[in-house]
Amino acid sequence: SEQAFVDSVLARMTLPEKLGQLTQYAGQWGQTGPRVETATEDAIRRGEVGSFLSVWGADVTRRLQRIAVEESRLGIPILFSHDVIHGFRTLFPVPLAEAASWDPDVARESARIAAAEASAYGIAWTFAPMMDVARDARWGRVVEGAGEDPHLGSVMAAARVRGFQGTDLRAPLSIAATAKHFAAYGAAEGGRDYNIADIPERTLRETYLPPFRAAVCAGAATFMASFNEIGGVPAHASRALQTDVLRGEWGFNGMVVSDWGGLQELIPHGVAAGRADAARLGLRAGVDMDMVSEVYLKELPAEIAAGRVPMAEVDEAVRRVLRLKYRLGLFANPYARGDTSRELPAGRLPAEHRRAAYEAAARSVVLLRNAGGVLPLDRARIRRLAVIGPLAADRHSPLGSWNGAGRDEDVVPVLDGIRRAAGSGITVDYTAGVDSVRSTSGGGFAAAVRAARAADAVVLVVGETEDMTGEASSRVSLDLPGAQRELVEAVRAAAGRKPVAVVLMNGRPLALEWMHDTVPAIVEAWFGGVEMGNAVGDVLFGEVNPGGKLPMTFPRATGQVPIYYNYRQTGRPADPRNEYTTGYERSPSTPLYPFGHGLSYTRFTYGAPRLSAARMGAGDTLSVTVEVTNAGGRAGDEVVQLYVRDPVAAVTRPVKELRGFRRIRLNPGETRAVTFRLTVDDLAFWDAAPRRIAEPGAFVVQVGGSSEQVQSAEFELVTVDGGAIAVPE
Ligand code: IFM
Repeated sequence: SEQAFVDSVLARMTLPEKLGQLTQYAGQWGQTGPRVETATEDAIRRGEVGSFLSVWGADVTRRLQRIAVEESRLGIPILFSHDVIHGFRTLFPVPLAEAASWDPDVARESARIAAAEASAYGIAWTFAPMMDVARDARWGRVVEGAGEDPHLGSVMAAARVRGFQGTDLRAPLSIAATAKHFAAYGAAEGGRDYNIADIPERTLRETYLPPFRAAVCAGAATFMASFNEIGGVPAHASRALQTDVLRGEWGFNGMVVSDWGGLQELIPHGVAAGRADAARLGLRAGVDMDMVSEVYLKELPAEIAAGRVPMAEVDEAVRRVLRLKYRLGLFANPYARGDTSRELPAGRLPAEHRRAAYEAAARSVVLLRNAGGVLPLDRARIRRLAVIGPLAADRHSPLGSWNGAGRDEDVVPVLDGIRRAAGSGITVDYTAGVDSVRSTSGGGFAAAVRAARAADAVVLVVGETEDMTGEASSRVSLDLPGAQRELVEAVRAAAGRKPVAVVLMNGRPLALEWMHDTVPAIVEAWFGGVEMGNAVGDVLFGEVNPGGKLPMTFPRATGQVPIYYNYRQTGRPADPRNEYTTGYERSPSTPLYPFGHGLSYTRFTYGAPRLSAARMGAGDTLSVTVEVTNAGGRAGDEVVQLYVRDPVAAVTRPVKELRGFRRIRLNPGETRAVTFRLTVDDLAFWDAAPRRIAEPGAFVVQVGGSSEQVQSAEFELVTVDGGAIAVPE
């Protein structure tokens, strides 16, 4: 059995070998790809390398694996890991974009393909999915998660875990997932990366932990501790998080890895006086593997000898590492994954993978605005199309941040996709307008204005480059960078009454009120991966009817962040007629585009929600049914969303919380009844203690096509003695 095997290996290990298993080294980038130092190869021979990160390639991983298996005393295989975030060779839309599809099958499939590709390069473990709920779009890492909502985040997190790991972790095409960053990294104060998270335990449990819990339920093999501290306790030193909640409450029996240097960072955090303290705090908190700090390897021997770290705790951490290797089938076949015959040279992405990347990109597009039905563009009325903007021909940015082994050559830029979709009857004129997204010079405006004047329709492609989101890429402003706003305004003015559409390429919500007031059609296409161009072209010309919805609120102005739909009500709810209510001087506090917003080329109408009963007992299931009709002239997708509100409770509750959603496709004139089922679990919340309870009384369900376009119905929760009931997670 797994336990007997792991114990038998453990029983033969020396202390340096044990600590070696707890140590992860980083590869270097050499001339031909990742490589490791000769000194590190010697460490493998001594049995002191548990894992590598960012070492990939069938040749190099097989060679290093052979050293571990054949030349080290115990022959324990190495665990190769990498940040495979949204694809490895075939890059898919960034995770925030995939969340905009509101389609867990998209996330699952992209993770499955990413795992299959990465495993060919020897990778057995990815540091994904990232499931940090994020409400401040300044934070650069919003691009890697599923946005602001715990429920959508949970569904997407579980789908990604299942995609990476498959049904059998031992299969050569499966890789282990990492639920990261545990926890509340997304609550970084001020949106500054690595910053503190000053949130109470109630908020932690209600908002930030649910996706992690969902990842455990989906079988996530590993967790990663987060860089931040919460209320004074760095996550890497938090026994409450890494042991009590994760293993105690949730029953997780996998492995926890530190973030890069996260253990030695306990020193600048100010909770460790030196590296020995850092090692002891981390191990005793429950962090099993040390990513690159090398504090376990170097400092724990003295800590153990002095009796400050019990050997039993070290053994338990080693067991978790060995167990993961066993579960991945590495002991049985250490070479199953690195496979040169499955590696993919540039320009050779499998058609099936491209197809999936196209589907994902197309399903992720959100139509933010379409005044006067400017889109889709009408081929019959266009002879000349001007495509303007610094990102239109960009081959790199569609790959997004953390782009694995993605190659620019594999990307279909937006311009190419538009040209293909436009067809031979339309002449496409391209001009960048500005040198780069960051450039403040208007030197290219004249050419852009000329192109707009000469054309029958104009598409502007603006936004951010991929390096403006991701780790260490927080922005102080959510404005369109550089001179792009001026470019859009100049082109818009020159285009007069001609159709003008903006395609946005970006990895976070932007503040676009001015654009909304100026440009009739706005398409949010995110960093859409290798097939982005084709998907955008097909959306613009109507081959694809966009059906994505926002996973994060778009503010009017940067000063509104953090802004999110599931806020708690104040004693002075916003009222534009009363200045002594929550809000801003001379500026609305409402979002520009709310969570769940997304238009279509067709029109959906909703009937009133029907409930299966007016009262619900604690053990009952309540059905909520709504009829949705495609009242327009095209087939299209709608994401039907269900929100719940608890109007009076022991603690203040959000004005609404997403509890269910379904993406459906309807033909013109078609009506479908969509049914959601609610149980007491959907009504539960963390009280001040905090305990997870549900209270009897009135609840409001709201159903609609965005968080702000809903119809309501009420019901009552009834408990046996009229009191609150405990609802275990
Ligand atoms: O996995 C990442 C993590 O998300 C941020 N720091 C570096 C790690 C390894 O690359």
